[in-house]
Amino acid sequence: MKNSLFKEFTKRYNKPAVNSYFSPGRVNLIGEHIDYNGGLVMPCAITFGTYLLLSPNEDGVFRFQSLNFDDELTIPVQGNYVKTGDGWYNYPLGVINHFINDGHQLTGLDLFFSGDIPIGSGLSSSASIEVVTAFALNEFFNCGYSKLDLVKLSKSVENNFIGVNSGIMDQFAVAFGEKNKALMLNCDTLDYQAVDSNLDDYVLAIINTNKPRKLAESKYNERVQECAAALKLLQQQLDIKHLCDIDTDTFNKYNNLISDKIILNRATHVIEENDRVKLAAEALKNNDLAGFGRLMYASHKSLRNLYEVSGKELDAVVDYCATDNNVAGARMTGAGFGGCAIALVKQDAFEDFSQKVTAYYMKKIGYAPSVYSSLIGDGVGIMPEFEDARS
Ligand code: GLA
Repeated sequence: MKNSLFKEFTKRYNKPAVNSYFSPGRVNLIGEHIDYNGGLVMPCAITFGTYLLLSPNEDGVFRFQSLNFDDELTIPVQGNYVKTGDGWYNYPLGVINHFINDGHQLTGLDLFFSGDIPIGSGLSSSASIEVVTAFALNEFFNCGYSKLDLVKLSKSVENNFIGVNSGIMDQFAVAFGEKNKALMLNCDTLDYQAVDSNLDDYVLAIINTNKPRKLAESKYNERVQECAAALKLLQQQLDIKHLCDIDTDTFNKYNNLISDKIILNRATHVIEENDRVKLAAEALKNNDLAGFGRLMYASHKSLRNLYEVSGKELDAVVDYCATDNNVAGARMTGAGFGGCAIALVKQDAFEDFSQKVTAYYMKKIGYAPSVYSSLIGDGVGIMPEFEDARS
């Protein structure tokens, strides 16, 4: 893998790459749509990710090329960039823009990206490309940012340059991920613990619905606004900064402040989901995978009925899982509106599961999902001597 990317770089730019970096994607085990409400989340980095190779140039330009997309960009080193169309290169361009605005003297670079995260699948391909770019620039130009600075900076690019009002979970997970650990992250304080994701004889399956996520960004921003509206109503009587500052019991005492049914549903999901994460952390600590699995199903149900970010494709996967005795729990992961579901599947039944969920999904939806058995990997870094752990 590494060799072929280096060869491709030389072919494209007529000179060798001098550095290479890798940032993973992520799955979120539980705690969905609550990072931007100051909640607790439980993501982990996966072994799919984004590779970045680079080399300086003397031409005073940034050149962006990708193995995954045909469109390319060459742009003078000057800053004050704005998002241009929907091209993939807007993500690294936004990061470069941020570095320049912060006063760093960047010089010309030839950049080559390659990723194996299915795009738009809810596995954070965007956070992955942002963070790998930020990490690379920081290393290459010695800018002195901490890893947490890089996370915050990448989130700011997503919010202000790309225009999606996402929380901090994805950038945090792909930067701080650790092999075989889930991160218990408090999105208000940014305190986190890396906890052993001891799955015993279960594996984490990722089921990509292969449904393109149309309108995902505008729907996402709509949910963020709905939560802000709920918070404002509760703040009439409660001294809170985030929806997740209260638990379900307190919420039940004050939810009469919210008369709009939709806003009430959104807030109910957020506050109950935060409580579920606390229970899930306990279950994981006690090796109670059955309990963890039940919380996953409850999370999905709430995302489907109250938060309305699932869809028939994700529901088909989770509905199948509920009928399979070899599955402890399943839910959609990430923003939703298509993308991926995850499931805890008995290791020795994985092949059987994969065939059956595929058959069920095809019958219901009309085309096949992609099913992977996922490994929990490390966060961003210099590209390792890469042995493909998935092959
Ligand atoms: C997307 C966002 C995250 C988070 C999830 C939903 O992945 O980027 O910040 O809000 O959706 O949990």
